[in-house]
Amino acid sequence: MKALEIKGLKKSFRSNFLIKKFNILKGIDLDVEKGEIYGFLGPNGAGKTTTIKCIMGLLSPDSGEVRVDGLPAHAAAARQRIGFLPENPYFYDYLTAREFLLFSASLFNIPEKEMRDKVAALIHRVGLSGHEDLKLRKFSKGMIQRLGLAQALVNDPDLLILDEPFSGLDPVGRKDLRLLILALREQGKTVFFSSHILQDMELMADRVGIILAGTIRRQGKLSELIARSTQYVEVVCDRIAPKELARIHPDHALRDNQSVLTLAGDADVNLVVESIIHSGGRILAVNPVKMTLEDIFFSEMAGGANGVPTSQSNGTGAPPNPSTLGGKP
Ligand SMILES: Nc1ncnc2c1ncn2[C@@H]1O[C@H](COP(=O)(O)OP(=O)(O)OP(=O)(O)O)[C@@H](O)[C@H]1O
Ligand SMILES: [Mg+2]
Repeated sequence: MKALEIKGLKKSFRSNFLIKKFNILKGIDLDVEKGEIYGFLGPNGAGKTTTIKCIMGLLSPDSGEVRVDGLPAHAAAARQRIGFLPENPYFYDYLTAREFLLFSASLFNIPEKEMRDKVAALIHRVGLSGHEDLKLRKFSKGMIQRLGLAQALVNDPDLLILDEPFSGLDPVGRKDLRLLILALREQGKTVFFSSHILQDMELMADRVGIILAGTIRRQGKLSELIARSTQYVEVVCDRIAPKELARIHPDHALRDNQSVLTLAGDADVNLVVESIIHSGGRILAVNPVKMTLEDIFFSEMAGGANGVPTSQSNGTGAPPNPSTLGGKP
């Protein structure tokens, strides 16, 4: 059974005067396995928060279904298993961290003694020890995010839904939060988090769903998405005239006084290398280049036409010639 399953989720909003209808979610299908960290990746305005609000029952979808552990997400039994960190959380300014967490815990009918122990443990866990009696209005953005995560954990949920948990955190805060989320997975919890930051995805997501303009464009294991994607090979050499190089392979460029040939992943690299040596050239490097999540993301943004790595991340300074890459979707 899936920890979370969304099928055909559609949501539209109407303009102020109900004249125009905006289709925001256009039939979202995704599923999250138990015990995995699922990264919900998409640019601003793609529909991540709208999807999450539908999961949490804060918005009612036009159509489609959301299931948690096989149960409809709106069922009380399903809701009890979810912990939620909203985007830009805002908590009662005049409560202390401890008071706020005790209040959150009280909503779940936890016995008084257990509640106090639990809150103390959570404060320690999210790194807020020493600040438990500080009023929240004195909390920094990072501290609020930590408190938000503690609040999401107060009912010991099986599934955590975190909307942009890394937003506004400095590098130390990001790392701490990453370690915390990884530790939650170790405990067998399922984490669904949204972000538009690729590095967060690459560093911890087991699977990724890419949402663009209200549609899931790709979903899969990060390792598979990257491995399945186009690879190419760069052969770096020098001491060879451009004319000779052009004869060996049409796609070549000069970079830092070195010639770089870009070959399709399935090209005969040996043959090219031998030809260069035979012509008096010197081989400096042979680099297989894998597609990164960033490449996949930009390729989808550009229409997902060929899945060819772009200059944003391949480090060549210039996009490789798609015609020589044999790119596949
Ligand atoms: N209540 C609403 N009424 C009208 N339009 C809305 C409403 N909520 C969201 N939208 C629109 O839906 C689209 C998706 O918004 P959403 O907040 O889901 O995006 P997002 O992927 O979470 O973006 P971000 O990365 O900026 O948080 C946006 O164009 C937004 O303007
Ligand atoms: Mg959002």
